[in-house]
Amino acid sequence: MANIIIVGTQWGDEGKGKIVDCLTEKSNVVARYQGGHNAGHTVVIGGDKFILHLIPSGILHKDKQCIIGNGVVVDPLALITEIEQLKARGVPVTRDNLRVSKNAHLIMPYHVILDGWKEKVKGNKKIGTTGRGIGPCYTDKASRAGIRMLDLSWPIQFKEKLRANIDDINCMLEQIPNVDKLDTDKIYDTYISYGEKLAPYVDDTDITINEAIKQGKTILFEGAQGTLLDVDHGTYPYVTSSSATAGGAMTGLGVGPKCVDEVYGVAKAYTTRVGEGPFPSELLDNTGESLREKGAEYGATTGRARRCGWLDFVVLRHAVRVNGLTGLVITKLDILDDMEKIKVCVGYKYTDKNGERQLKDFPKELPVLEGCSPVYEEHDGWKGEASAGVRSYDKLPKKAKAYIELIEKTLGIPVVIVSTGQDRDDIIYR
Ligand code: GDP
Ligand code: IMO
Ligand code: MG
Repeated sequence: MANIIIVGTQWGDEGKGKIVDCLTEKSNVVARYQGGHNAGHTVVIGGDKFILHLIPSGILHKDKQCIIGNGVVVDPLALITEIEQLKARGVPVTRDNLRVSKNAHLIMPYHVILDGWKEKVKGNKKIGTTGRGIGPCYTDKASRAGIRMLDLSWPIQFKEKLRANIDDINCMLEQIPNVDKLDTDKIYDTYISYGEKLAPYVDDTDITINEAIKQGKTILFEGAQGTLLDVDHGTYPYVTSSSATAGGAMTGLGVGPKCVDEVYGVAKAYTTRVGEGPFPSELLDNTGESLREKGAEYGATTGRARRCGWLDFVVLRHAVRVNGLTGLVITKLDILDDMEKIKVCVGYKYTDKNGERQLKDFPKELPVLEGCSPVYEEHDGWKGEASAGVRSYDKLPKKAKAYIELIEKTLGIPVVIVSTGQDRDDIIYR
């Protein structure tokens, strides 16, 4: 199989975990390149549900090499917990199938405190983060104050860096009510013990993955979050702090662009978003509620209700462009099974002092985006016939096939996979 990047095309939770799990069968290496345990990737195998946060979804297959790249921010306790939980369920996790980059930045306790505090002071302008310390950790990385996985093997230097950071943080914490100052020694001891537990997995992952490429092994690049949550190409500032788009796979793992054969974008057959920020095709009515209930649209990480709306071609056109998508994967087609009519957003209506106009491209200015209303096209649904559980394209209801073909025609790229249920086997390869 080809080397494929899997990216989310919307605001995350498109079903990337399931698709990565399915494509792992034909790959040798599965590598995560950004994000952290803000991600929640669900894989269902014969009714058994696994939710992965940091470890690539390929871990559930035997004899596959999983990599957590340098672009990922790692909360060591979250990683240790995930490893232990997998082992407890009979999934082996050893150096043979999991490597973590030495260069991956670590989420420290102060990142979590800062994440919560920044959200609190923003009041009604809060981002609605997952509260996992992701933003502050990437901030430290960019400002060159970060602590990396490799630092845990250099105790003297680690303590020096930690003390400098904590001295800074403690000055800030003095202004936050009901928060105790941080104790460098305590955090040092805790993190050194995490380092000992994770030592077997720590690796020069850039070398490992490039060796694998040289040997002709196939690589699956697992993105977290989605295009509209990308720090450059998303609905800034209502985004996460990493490069979730395809380009992030290169810097987040240390590979060159020529090793990539295909870029597949995963899109739900409708749209969801969790957290704050603009969402032009959001449905605040019974239809939105029914998508949420039927689609079980509650976050895999925080349990928050996901906001739901119709499929948005303005969003998807943007995702095709900025990721250079070569194929699309449509998930959760089955959730539309009971719909009499299905709408798709084909443009945005925007009115300003120059009058009303229709935008075809995703606007970058937040006030413009917030002022946009969706322009819909309505199509017949396939109510009374089911796509749920269908495993061959020919057996899909005619109108469901028409919906898939509408997506292809509008976006100008093929739909290569259709997912028709939660389970690993509810999938159609075209
Ligand atoms: P990810 O973050 O992109 O991996 O997606 P999540 O796991 O957060 O959310 C996707 C949800 O949809 C999970 O509960 C999946 O089990 C579920 N899912 C994925 N594909 C399908 C599908 O085709 N049909 C249905 N009904 N559920 C799906
Ligand atoms: P997966 O990989 C959906 C959202 C948060 C918030 C914003 C910033 O499962 O698709 P952060 O904690 O990253 O600073 O929060 O990003 N967010 C996600 N939404 N799926 C995710 O991951 C997300 N990871 C972050 O809700 O709006
Ligand atoms: Mg998710």
